[in-house]
Amino acid sequence: MSDEQPADSLSRRRFFGGAGSVAVAGAGGLIAGTGGAAVVGGALADEQATDPATDVERLQATSATLSYPYYGAHQSGIDTPPQDHLVFTAFDLSATTATELQLVLAKWSAAMAQMTAGRPVGKVEPTREHGIPVDTGEAFDMGTQGLTLTLGYGPSLFDDRFGLAKFKPKDFADLPAMAGEALDPAYTGGDLCIQACANDPQVAYHAVRNLARMARTSVKTRWTVLGFGRASAGPHQKTPRNLMGFKDGTRNVSGEADFAEHVWAGDEAQQPWMNGGSYLVARKIHMLIETWDEDPIGDQQSIFGRTKQEGAPLSGQSEHDVPDFHAAVAGKPAIAPDSHIALVAHENNAGTKILRRGYNFTDGLDSVGRLDAGLMFISFQKNPEQFVSLQRKLGSSDRLNEYIRHVGSGVFAVPGGLPESGSYYGKEFFA
Ligand code: HEM
Repeated sequence: MSDEQPADSLSRRRFFGGAGSVAVAGAGGLIAGTGGAAVVGGALADEQATDPATDVERLQATSATLSYPYYGAHQSGIDTPPQDHLVFTAFDLSATTATELQLVLAKWSAAMAQMTAGRPVGKVEPTREHGIPVDTGEAFDMGTQGLTLTLGYGPSLFDDRFGLAKFKPKDFADLPAMAGEALDPAYTGGDLCIQACANDPQVAYHAVRNLARMARTSVKTRWTVLGFGRASAGPHQKTPRNLMGFKDGTRNVSGEADFAEHVWAGDEAQQPWMNGGSYLVARKIHMLIETWDEDPIGDQQSIFGRTKQEGAPLSGQSEHDVPDFHAAVAGKPAIAPDSHIALVAHENNAGTKILRRGYNFTDGLDSVGRLDAGLMFISFQKNPEQFVSLQRKLGSSDRLNEYIRHVGSGVFAVPGGLPESGSYYGKEFFA
């Protein structure tokens, strides 16, 4: 925007209008990104801002019109550059018939298309005075905010309740019990899950709330985690920090070849509906933050194998230096073999990689006044075994275990994307 133009020329109408507006090319750090991400509408990337107030408006407007495709080979919310906020909810079905389940999935598919396009799921203001609003309204006028909604099916969906056993992906089962976990059934499992990510928390919350509400006679929410301060980064994003103060997401799956090799499911699932899908692993990991905060910096760095401020591997200088697990300092490994990164790096795990797409969370204080906070770890992989093999190593050897507890867990088969308008998730189950 030029200096002469008043800030209010960034009118709501202009940003919500969509057609004829300019594509975002990195304005204010919001990048259209990888994986087929598209910006519909957009902000004034080719104009210069000088006034900080204008910058704020520009950012807000950019996010309001940022949207990712709902139809395509893959669901959005996997290779989408991580948005700032998460609402993750696992649901149990109270439905008793396949037809009821079919209705839930069909309604959700249509509602997800609406909401990811920034539209309400129905009337916010019914015309009749006694009409009940269909959409609850709290995201009305807020735009898309980069909202993505990613649906997954838990292993329990394929038990004998709905006759879906023959559609179960090969070897799909609950995660095995692993060392170092203290899982709470209140944060574990679920027949279905929705991962809602958006740059505004209210937009993500509204989406899950309305999905739950429209299916309330057929599904019950089982557990929810509200995440903030994404703890992972896409290719053009600055690496954020987890609540232990370390950069998280420096080395992650990136680029189409890596996604094809490590993330997108294919024929091995032996279910055509999983082509282009993935498996989502969710772990609610509580951090013992008070204890961590008293740990000396040398120990903190040696636990992760990286420096705190820069995020450099202890064998290098800069964040993106490739860790050298053979480097030695004074006859000792620069990166301790039992450090977090040494245990899980692909170089030390026969090439195994997972896409980490986690968020920080806090539930306030616990009953004795300690911080109730941690990492909502979410990873996507072609096969849940990738996560299991890494977590088995971490669970038995990671020095980080002294400071964390895995309290929640779920594994979900995420179907491939919907091909076109009118299609719905699960259609093939009910043919
Ligand atoms: C609260 C728990 C955890 C914390 C605080 C944490 C933190 C970190 C940090 C700071 C890094 C280094 C920066 C980076 O490359 O992103 C990292 C890397 C990594 N973490 Fe974790 N992590 C946690 C749990 C897990 C779990 C449960 C897994 C998988 C089972 C995992 C897998 C990885 C992988 C694969 C890397 C990349 C290693 C590399 O290639 O160098 N992390 N994590």
